[in-house]
Amino acid sequence: MSDPTDIVSCADLAIGHGRKVIMDRLSFALPAGKILAIVGPSGCGKSTLMRALGGLDAPLGGSARLMGVDLATADEPARQDILRRSGFLFQGAALFSSLTLRENIEMPMREFLRCPPKEMRQLAEYKLALVGLADAMDKLPSEISGGMAKRAGIARAMALDPRVIFLDEPSAGLDPMSSGRLDELILRLREAFGTTVVLVSHEIPSILRTADLCIYLDPETGTMGASGPPKSFLQAGQPAKVHAFFTQARID
Ligand SMILES: Nc1ncnc2c1ncn2[C@@H]1O[C@H](COP(=O)(O)OP(=O)(O)OP(=O)(O)O)[C@@H](O)[C@H]1O
Ligand SMILES: [Mg+2]
Repeated sequence: MSDPTDIVSCADLAIGHGRKVIMDRLSFALPAGKILAIVGPSGCGKSTLMRALGGLDAPLGGSARLMGVDLATADEPARQDILRRSGFLFQGAALFSSLTLRENIEMPMREFLRCPPKEMRQLAEYKLALVGLADAMDKLPSEISGGMAKRAGIARAMALDPRVIFLDEPSAGLDPMSSGRLDELILRLREAFGTTVVLVSHEIPSILRTADLCIYLDPETGTMGASGPPKSFLQAGQPAKVHAFFTQARID
């Protein structure tokens, strides 16, 4: 099932912590430039899966490939190369509170890019302008709203022009308007740069608007309950709990 155009894929993947497997038999593939949404009840393993797909944690079984590299067998230089070409917004991730937004975006550049400070400054300003924060680049995180902080987090994830960005609950805690704006931003980044997006979310409207492929993790069976385009999750014929999750209906 591995196609060279798939940028994120896994086959019979098992994920967990230590030796404890929390999800296994995960198999799916995402072509480059597409948006994947990982959904499921709280604690089912969404963040754990995102870390495994991003090459931050080794698979406990099966295989995961990112940009054509097998994450279970990759050597350190290959892993570093993958990390360099990936961007992350971790769940509840905070910006560095003592640094301005611009300095926050410059952080990954300082670590990975060998270019003069002036150039990094310009790149950071460009990234902030991209997410609509051109006027706020000298502000501290305490001086901006939650929605602005999320956008700054996305600018930081985009700092090194990644091929894939991993966003864990980017719209959590935002009002519907700000959440809608964030969806538009994600779609725009994909449009402008062809960035592939792996998204963890429980915002159904947002998933329906943005995602091409959706994976539902079922904690009762410890594997995927469904996968497919998110709109298909609304149709009859889906497993009852998947349908209920998507229509926010109750199942008794
Ligand atoms: N670092 C860790 N060490 C050990 N167990 C962990 C660790 N992080 C998470 N877990 C456990 O793994 C399981 C899955 O956690 P995970 O954070 O992936 O869930 P989630 O679906 O992202 O939840 P949420 O929707 O609340 O963010 C949970 O039972 C959690 O307690
Ligand atoms: Mg999580």
